[in-house]
Amino acid sequence: MQLQSAFLFLSALAVTTASPLGRRCDSTGVTYVLPSTGGPTSLPAPDLPLQHILVGHGVQNYTCATTGVAGTSVGALAVLYDVTSLYPGSGPGSLSSAKWSALTSKVLHTTSLPIQTASPASPFPPPANLSVTGISKPLPFIGHHFFDLNGVPTFSLNDDAELFKGMKVLNIPAPADADQGLSGEGAVDWLYLSDKGGSVGHL
Ligand SMILES: *[C@@H]1O[C@H](CO)[C@@H](O)[C@H](O)[C@H]1NC(C)=O
Ligand SMILES: *[C@@H]1O[C@H](CO)[C@@H](O)[C@H](O)[C@H]1NC(C)=O
Repeated sequence: MQLQSAFLFLSALAVTTASPLGRRCDSTGVTYVLPSTGGPTSLPAPDLPLQHILVGHGVQNYTCATTGVAGTSVGALAVLYDVTSLYPGSGPGSLSSAKWSALTSKVLHTTSLPIQTASPASPFPPPANLSVTGISKPLPFIGHHFFDLNGVPTFSLNDDAELFKGMKVLNIPAPADADQGLSGEGAVDWLYLSDKGGSVGHL
């Protein structure tokens, strides 16, 4: 089990936790710069309009057949919060670059895991906004991330009004200075996902 808090950049037909210096503009003229690993590997920037920037807090589960081999992903559970309006320079309530960069680590280290691990059949607590110390307004709850019955990574936003069914296109190692997790498990790879089919609402 990997306790995790990560950024997700959702744009039409693509989800990514990161991208190398990709630049995106929305209709209000804000330029969103996706994070870069700073290393030789990179993910392509999505080339469709940005829909949301989310923080997910939850777990990713891996299994491995024998000791020493890389684990394979078997599921994930996360509660998603919409942090688009906190993007530096995007409006009156936005964060400084330093606070923005530290946001996922802050959520991971200072807020409770929003997963009911004792109730596998109903793992998510009732929807709630997330208060984070040092951030003036609670992060607005927007939905959940889970693997569906067919094992497809799914992001359900606004009660399924926006639904993203993803498939992995690329993964690259997280930067060396990425948060290593609550017990030093190590950062998971940064992923680039695209629509597997069945997505709803411009995702
Ligand atoms: C993943 O791990 C969490 C925490 O142990 C658990 O609650 C959840 O049921 C697991 N899910 C899967 C798909 O293995
Ligand atoms: C979260 O906060 C917004 C106001 O920013 C409110 O409209 C909404 O009902 C809250 N959601 C929950 C689940 O409490």
